[in-house]
Amino acid sequence: MTDNQLLKEKHVEYIINLDKKKEDFEYWVTEHLRMNGMYWGLSALSILNSIDKMNKEETIEWVLSCQQPNGGFSGNNQHDDHLLSTLSAVQILLQFDALDRLNIDAVVDYVVSLQQPDGSFFGDRWGEVDTRFTYCAVSILSLLNKLDKINQDKVVEFIGKCRNFDGGYGCLPGAESHAGQTFTCIGTLAILHRLHEIDIDTIGWWLCERQLPNGGLNGRPEKSSDVCYSWWVLSSLSAIDRLHWIDQDKLRSYIIDCQDQETGGIADKPQDLPDVFHTFFGLCGLSLMGYYNLEHIDPVYALPTKTLRKLKHLNLTWNKH
Ligand code: FPP
Ligand code: ZN
Repeated sequence: MTDNQLLKEKHVEYIINLDKKKEDFEYWVTEHLRMNGMYWGLSALSILNSIDKMNKEETIEWVLSCQQPNGGFSGNNQHDDHLLSTLSAVQILLQFDALDRLNIDAVVDYVVSLQQPDGSFFGDRWGEVDTRFTYCAVSILSLLNKLDKINQDKVVEFIGKCRNFDGGYGCLPGAESHAGQTFTCIGTLAILHRLHEIDIDTIGWWLCERQLPNGGLNGRPEKSSDVCYSWWVLSSLSAIDRLHWIDQDKLRSYIIDCQDQETGGIADKPQDLPDVFHTFFGLCGLSLMGYYNLEHIDPVYALPTKTLRKLKHLNLTWNKH
């Protein structure tokens, strides 16, 4: 497939049919991740300008039903709260203009309770630490205009400890550089307006070296290309204003080749089966590069720029749209 056509209608159909696939094994093994899945699907529809195809009221009710007594959100009913699903819940409610229906103080107390003395965050009460959770906490509080409730200097100090000699970031101090973690650390620093404190060109080089001869991007040296890195790598390059350091036409062709011509949806690699995660991040990559008149996605908050512009307290210094 080489004609570079984006199958917009097929992707919309693919996403709105996902919730009907209750016969599928995959539907049930991802049951505990339903809040993340809802955010990926809804945001993909936003990028395709088709958010009205979702049942708004039903979705809002379901999201609100997942808020736990401690203020955090679970990935589905009858599951435990986690920062990962709490961020997705806030992102969904925001896109439906429904933040006023959220118990914001409870969410803020929950997030604040998870910050540790070294600035890091637990993902939930069980105490795992990862820069993904730092990003979730900082993004939630920023969207809710409550960043002053945590120690931001300590957050920056912890992120600094997760930086490696190659400029990339890992999930913990001393852990290998990974493009996904690099997104979370660059995103955290961007939200806190502390990006000027890092060596932009070193991380820019590490990021653009993720592009392989087939045009796709990988997440670390020696790994194969995967469509989701069209988001983790590209968003980071975009936030530091180095998007032009990779070959965008080649990446576009790679993402287009990962589309499923029959069912719609985008896979991790050409010929693989599509899923909602790679569909969303493939569309995000195309949106960041400005192809196909897609709705613009913000590289730091992973939300449509037009949605974020409604939050007057945000200062999207990295976003020229
Ligand atoms: C790769 O994961 C990606 C990461 C480690 C970053 C995940 C970031 C979040 C969950 C924060 C919220 C994100 C958004 C966009 C709002 P992987 O497990 O697929 O890595 P692998 O390719 O090494 O398996
Ligand atoms: Zn992937």
